[in-house]
Amino acid sequence: MDAADVADDLEKVLFSSDQIQARVAEIAALIDADYQGRDVLLVGVLNGAVMVMSDLQRAMHSHVEMDWMAVSSYGSGMQSSGVVRILKDLSVDIEGRDVIVVEDIIDTGLTLSYLMSNLASRGPASLEIMTMFRKPDAAQIDVPVKYVGFEIPNEFVVGYGLDYAGRYRNLRDVGTLAPHVYS
Ligand code: XMP
Ligand code: MG
Repeated sequence: MDAADVADDLEKVLFSSDQIQARVAEIAALIDADYQGRDVLLVGVLNGAVMVMSDLQRAMHSHVEMDWMAVSSYGSGMQSSGVVRILKDLSVDIEGRDVIVVEDIIDTGLTLSYLMSNLASRGPASLEIMTMFRKPDAAQIDVPVKYVGFEIPNEFVVGYGLDYAGRYRNLRDVGTLAPHVYS
């Protein structure tokens, strides 16, 4: 009997691994060009940004450092609570640093909006956002995002770091889940 493959739970692939990698490389080149001669600090938001952080910095040619934050926004489900709590703070001081927050996805924008005002209060030299995916139709608050991988419809997606109840982060493609997974 064949082993079950997590990819079998996808209903529809929205972005293939190749498309994602190509877009990440384009954004890496933009960042290299925008920050010439400055050491960028990428701040990844755990756990979803793990894949994009890893690929983005390896596609960059400039000097780059990374650090991580963990915040609670969603529980294990699919509804934004709007309540944000810092579960893990940065290890480094960002005062005077050129910071880019790296996100997997922006949905309502509530999580990131909170995070940005928190980080801005620490006095970075500059503070921008890179997100792999954004759902424009779900926005509840305007967050200025400098680098967007792909805009997507207002559907719940998994893969490339995005999870449903902790699963599916390891999919290389990004897509929607088959209904049987939810029930
Ligand atoms: P907000 O609504 O505050 O939420 O912008 C951002 C966080 O919510 C999670 N999120 C998703 N996770 N598929 C996921 O696996 C999705 O379609 C999705 N939409 C939002 C994600 O953790 C993101 O950082
Ligand atoms: Mg996230």
